[in-house]
Amino acid sequence: MDGNGRWATARDLPRIAGHRAGAVAVSRTVEAARELGVGALTLYAFSSDNWKRPPEEVSGLMQLFGAYLQAEKTRCIKHGIRLEVIGRRDRLDRPLVEAIDEVERATGSGSALHLRIAVDYSARDCILRAAGALEGPLSTERFTRLLGEAMHASAGAAPDVDLLIRTGGEKRLSDFLLWESAYAELVFSERMWPDFERVDLEAALGEFARRERRFGGLPSQKANSVAPIQAV
Ligand code: FPP
Repeated sequence: MDGNGRWATARDLPRIAGHRAGAVAVSRTVEAARELGVGALTLYAFSSDNWKRPPEEVSGLMQLFGAYLQAEKTRCIKHGIRLEVIGRRDRLDRPLVEAIDEVERATGSGSALHLRIAVDYSARDCILRAAGALEGPLSTERFTRLLGEAMHASAGAAPDVDLLIRTGGEKRLSDFLLWESAYAELVFSERMWPDFERVDLEAALGEFARRERRFGGLPSQKANSVAPIQAV
């Protein structure tokens, strides 16, 4: 969700104002994803490297996450959205961890959309933890399950990413779902995250549908389905 800072700077606003507008874009995009039949949506809200930002920006972001969880819980329950937070929890403040536990418990039976928000997330860190927990014979399935546990995913396994959307004109992976994105289709959008609209999600899904996915094999005639999809 890149571009909050630049969006704010272009308007002579503090960076946190961009993050606030970004939170509105999160609600809008989750709603659009559900309506468009996306099965799973993972949003990269705070990477483990984002701790390097000024303390006031970090605490502003943490407050926004807490407020979002509180505000969206009822809406998630109503619309069958299962909300899960992936990433480390040991460096988050206790009230935020409690809010995460509560929203995960309250929305756990939702089946319309699996929404995952990545907070203090690092793909490399998850891979290292999964590798450290590995015992017995090696297999992709076992490793994927351990990876799910390492990222705190209650579902267990770490699902593959179908579509990875990066906004704000950046063209990097930035330590996000590296293992899971092995065959992800990448779509780059120039749109700053606070300006991201339903039409932008539709455009990315349209682009995805037109891509030929071969997974190393030969072309198949099957069109790419819209669900389940991992968009970030
Ligand atoms: C990266 O863009 C964005 C972040 C590190 C924060 C993302 C947070 C939100 C969208 C708001 C709240 C989220 C939730 C889930 C409620 P940047 O700030 O680095 O922008 P820049 O590249 O323009 O500097």
